[in-house]
Amino acid sequence: MTVLEVLQSTTGYFQKRNIESPRLNAEHLLAHVLARKRIDLYLEFERRLPESELTPLRELVKRRGSGEPLQHLLGTVEFCGRSFRCDKRALVPRPETEQLVELLVSRFKSEIAHSRIVDVGTGSGVIALSLALECPKAEIVGTDISEDALMLARENAERLGLAERVRFLQSNLLEDVLAGVDLIVANLPYVSTEDRRNLSREVLHDPEVALFAGVLGDELVRQLIAQAPSWLRPGGMLAMEIGIGQSENLAAALAEKNYRDIWTEKDYSGVIRFLFARYG
Ligand SMILES: C[S@@+](CC[C@H](N)C(=O)[O-])C[C@H]1O[C@@H](n2cnc3c(N)ncnc32)[C@H](O)[C@@H]1O
Repeated sequence: MTVLEVLQSTTGYFQKRNIESPRLNAEHLLAHVLARKRIDLYLEFERRLPESELTPLRELVKRRGSGEPLQHLLGTVEFCGRSFRCDKRALVPRPETEQLVELLVSRFKSEIAHSRIVDVGTGSGVIALSLALECPKAEIVGTDISEDALMLARENAERLGLAERVRFLQSNLLEDVLAGVDLIVANLPYVSTEDRRNLSREVLHDPEVALFAGVLGDELVRQLIAQAPSWLRPGGMLAMEIGIGQSENLAAALAEKNYRDIWTEKDYSGVIRFLFARYG
């Protein structure tokens, strides 16, 4: 079969299996197996693929067809323009979260450039490490309750040459972090346990500990809201990604704890997704 024929038949197979963006998935997997850039496939549409290239591709296509996330099969994910290792040890980073980093950098870069930053629930480390690359003078710590996630975050730090600069620490929220923090950023689990049956096959490959936070989904965010004032420096900021429909109640929780300058931001699909506030 030629490259083009393989792409066409894989796309058809993915369509039947209800895989979103079937052609794109086919191109990513074939490029991965051939160790090429996706765009370079277009230069070799007519090339015949030997069995030695088709066999590993078939295996990956089968796994993708049964719902394994593309990023797990590729072993990497793009986040804020950089490549991070990605596997079942932590949540697959989402595009919304890139927006959280972009908002912080575009609005507050001069404020956070020399600050102490903690990324709570760091997962694969994408937020902490992206901020470290944008703010070379900032002191940055990533925390997670999952030792598996922390291992992956440390591998990503190594890969990006940040192992000496960003510290990853096992902690239940902020418990084991030193106080006096300028910015607490968090994309904590925010899915309701009631929504489990509505999740896609792909999402169910994320670790449970990275997804669920009680019946309403906002349990951990609420705990962080209650905890953060004792860790923030006066005027310090809490910046969080939250779930759909959670903003009103969480903004009220912030107000009740005497935070000030409480504001929300929408993601690119128009959903209120980010919640910010200052304390003291
Ligand atoms: C939604 S994932 C986000 C991962 C990463 N920040 C990202 O944006 O891709 C939430 C992370 O919070 C961690 N987590 C869950 N409960 C926690 C807790 N009590 N304290 C610290 N981290 C926690 C999970 O292990 C998971 O890595």
